[in-house]
Amino acid sequence: MRTQSPKAERPEHLHLQVDLGQRSYPIVIGSGALADPLLAEHCAGRRCVLVSDQNVAPLYARTLLDRLALVDDDLIALPAGEQHKHLGSFQAILTRMAERGLRRDGCVIALGGGVIGDLAGFAAACYMRGIDFVQCPTTLLAMVDSSVGGKTGLNLPSGKNLVGAFWQPQLVLADVAALSTLSAREYRAGLAEVIKYAAIADPDFFDWLQRNVDAINAHDADAIVHMVATSCRHKAAIVARDEREAGERALLNLGHTFGHALEAATDYTQLLHGEAVAIGMVQAAQLSALLGMADAADTQRLIDLLSAVGLPSVAPPLPLDRLRHHLALDKKAVAGGLKFILWRGIGKAEIVSGVDERALDAVLSGQ
Ligand code: NAD
Ligand code: GLY
Repeated sequence: MRTQSPKAERPEHLHLQVDLGQRSYPIVIGSGALADPLLAEHCAGRRCVLVSDQNVAPLYARTLLDRLALVDDDLIALPAGEQHKHLGSFQAILTRMAERGLRRDGCVIALGGGVIGDLAGFAAACYMRGIDFVQCPTTLLAMVDSSVGGKTGLNLPSGKNLVGAFWQPQLVLADVAALSTLSAREYRAGLAEVIKYAAIADPDFFDWLQRNVDAINAHDADAIVHMVATSCRHKAAIVARDEREAGERALLNLGHTFGHALEAATDYTQLLHGEAVAIGMVQAAQLSALLGMADAADTQRLIDLLSAVGLPSVAPPLPLDRLRHHLALDKKAVAGGLKFILWRGIGKAEIVSGVDERALDAVLSGQ
């Protein structure tokens, strides 16, 4: 992963690169990044569809359609929300791609949050055995996490993200100006994934986040660009070293094993993904402390930072057996049992299996 200086004739956006050999791609970050000439260059001379949702399309699709000389039928605006990340939406995208005459040189542009990015990316991975796609993330969560790294997929009634493929985009445009229309709650949920990078690998970034809480809470543009860029640098570096999650990439799931169980146990209705991850990271820190891996003071620093940006750190009361049931379904579970991402303090995450069951139950029951 390397940082490139913006070329003189281009807008002053930050250009990062995900280094994956022939499948390397740039991440363009900044206000107005959706207008970066790289997108028009990428789409020139081929058929494209724009996939978005019914909240985001009215805000940002028209400008992109016009800029790329696409017609209204090239826009697929799906109903918004996690409950629509299903096979029906996937089929709707594929059907329209065929109707619009996309061939193997076609391109799918995803404009939206992680739901749209995951669905559109998966459609691109499957259509004619794989065509190009571009990620235009419009939530903080999608800018710092889901748009980078090539995980695509959808949910089945029996579980989240059970179907999917690794399929890298050719370009990511993170236009931070789009965050101006995002709800405050969704913005905060994205901050959980930002804090995750600091927690797993970057104590200096953790300090920076602590020092800049006021700017972060005020949605300060420079602070947002710094958070998106730092998060994308971490994600790009990890993905470049471990694209298919044979090892290190699993660290990006800090808080997610607990978080997914919390989301499922509350029927995906109470907690946003980022809120569940925030609580899950605290539970991972508490488990690390109980197992003697880390100091409880680190857990407290994490709780203080989450609380300073308005994120929860305590799980809603839920029956232990229900949480246990959902934990057992975690994708990281292998024949030998559950794997957890724990830490030895801020910036030092590790993959741990064979965790003591009593310590786990103590954390799950909030003791
Ligand atoms: P989302 O896509 O549902 O977006 C959240 C809400 O914000 C939606 O209602 C959407 O319409 C609205 N919205 C989006 N951008 C907006 C904007 N600029 N202005 C106004 N409203 C806007 O949720 P999300 O949090 O972005 O993504 C969550 C999804 O991402 C989950 O399905 C999760 O599994 C997935 N995810 C994937 C990866 C990956 O690596 N592929 C990583 C993390 C999360
Ligand atoms: N969001 C976790 C990953 O991309 O691996």
